[in-house]
Amino acid sequence: MSDDKIIIFDTTLRDGEQSPGATMNKDEKLVVAEALESMGVDVIEAGFAIASPGDFDCVKSIAERSTGKTTICSLSRAKENDIQTAYDAIKDAKRGRIHTFISTSPVHMKHKLKMEPDAVIEAIGKSVSFARNLIDDVEWSAEDATRTEIDFLCRAVEKAIASGATTVNIPDTVGYTTPDEYFDLIKTLKERVPNIDKAVISVHCHDDLGMSVANSLSALRAGARQIECTINGLGERAGNAALEEIVMGIKTRGDRFPYTIGIDTTHISRVSKLVSTVSGFAVQRNKAIVGANAFAHESGIHQDGMLKSRDTYEIMTPESIGLKKSDLVLGKHSGRAAFKDKLHLKTN
Ligand code: KIV
Ligand code: ZN
Repeated sequence: MSDDKIIIFDTTLRDGEQSPGATMNKDEKLVVAEALESMGVDVIEAGFAIASPGDFDCVKSIAERSTGKTTICSLSRAKENDIQTAYDAIKDAKRGRIHTFISTSPVHMKHKLKMEPDAVIEAIGKSVSFARNLIDDVEWSAEDATRTEIDFLCRAVEKAIASGATTVNIPDTVGYTTPDEYFDLIKTLKERVPNIDKAVISVHCHDDLGMSVANSLSALRAGARQIECTINGLGERAGNAALEEIVMGIKTRGDRFPYTIGIDTTHISRVSKLVSTVSGFAVQRNKAIVGANAFAHESGIHQDGMLKSRDTYEIMTPESIGLKKSDLVLGKHSGRAAFKDKLHLKTN
């Protein structure tokens, strides 16, 4: 894999579905998985197989139907039964991955896991080796990594890689970090974890402070090469980093983000509408990239500029995300130019 390739890992069907009220049925999930695969997503996290027989069945069916273009992944906690169930669900995929996670922050270890740090390190070793004995592609996540003490995080990441993890994910589980801080965190891991070059570094950001996309993109400069995201930013609480924003950010600002991605961006609008319909989560009108107003112009000055040259007010084309054209909306702020244009009259 070339050093500038960014792996797009979509978790709409797992973290996205964990959004209260966003439940999707099996048929809907199959359609979404097919759409994600055809748009060129590298990894689809299809669900959390142990969560229920229904979740298991969905992950299994997505795995069985996958074409091999995309890796199909199931989440699991750091328990053998969970990991085995994840494997059973994805084993028929042409390319499958087990994703196992455990918390590493003091607050999670104390209150949620009720485990001492040394016991967590031991659990990382056992869970990752168990997964790696089942399959070659194993991702390990340090839940609440951004609130974890750095020495302990380095130890945990080193243990996960030594035990066979091929991807190490450093989630901002509670959406707490900032672009600079996250950059420093990934850079520190690159510098201090001796075996870090044996795994892909992944980032997974939540949007509690509205910085998930900025944080994810910032981590690329520090050496992360996988970004976890969801369509429309669907996800727990304020959601996850939005796939369409990450992808169009990289495509539009290639001067700042000199990376390659395998996504066909012309699918973005269609997949966004599909996920909005099946999840029941409307996309806000002014949402970046996929909101109804993202390519709409009402003010007279902007409309006049647009009619003269689209790049006056558009930094990307609607066609690039699969829309037919921009919309010059006639409203109280519009001027003569757009009015004449609507009437198909010449503007001067
Ligand atoms: O936000 C998070 O930490 C997660 C992990 C399970 C990867 O979703
Ligand atoms: Zn998450």
